[in-house]
Amino acid sequence: MKVRNLVPFALAALLLNACDFNSEKDYNPKADFQKFLKKQEEAKAAAAAGGGSATAEVPGKKTFETYCVACHGIDGKADGAGALAMNPRPRQFVDKAWQAKVDDEHIYKVIKLGGASQGLSATMAPWGAAIPDDEIKNLVQYVRHFGK
Ligand code: HEC
Repeated sequence: MKVRNLVPFALAALLLNACDFNSEKDYNPKADFQKFLKKQEEAKAAAAAGGGSATAEVPGKKTFETYCVACHGIDGKADGAGALAMNPRPRQFVDKAWQAKVDDEHIYKVIKLGGASQGLSATMAPWGAAIPDDEIKNLVQYVRHFGK
């Protein structure tokens, strides 16, 4: 047999081989499992970053704990590291009399525009540039929950 006649067979063999290789790759359970693990890690990271996933926790909590606890305390009692030395001391959100006195709009404006905008201390900075309005609304509810 001439070498030239072998060429089609060789090509066919090569092709078959390639197909085989491809299908093996598609059905590689190890690679699929690796992909699954990667997705799971991504989902976890997204949840940890507050990416609005199904596992997201109480609205406003994460933002409060990121930006507000240093002064207002994790439990809204203004016992955060910086708060004790502050003058005026930040409001205790657990104070029911204060909760009854102010409306949501006041709380919203203090957070968005800062304390000074509502005749309070400028130590309470405006957060409107850093926190979207919707999340400020969540913060209002979060501030409210301390009084309940
Ligand atoms: C650097 C410290 C500091 C940080 C950070 C801070 N605050 Fe304040 N906040 C204060 C101080 C001080 C006051 C009190 C101002 C006053 O009584 O004159 C205040 C007042 C407030 C009030 C109004 C209370 C009242 O008497 O009407 C609200 C509501 C509030 N803060 C919410 C927040 C939220 C929500 C965050 C996070 C986004 C935040 N604050 C971050 C220091 C801080």
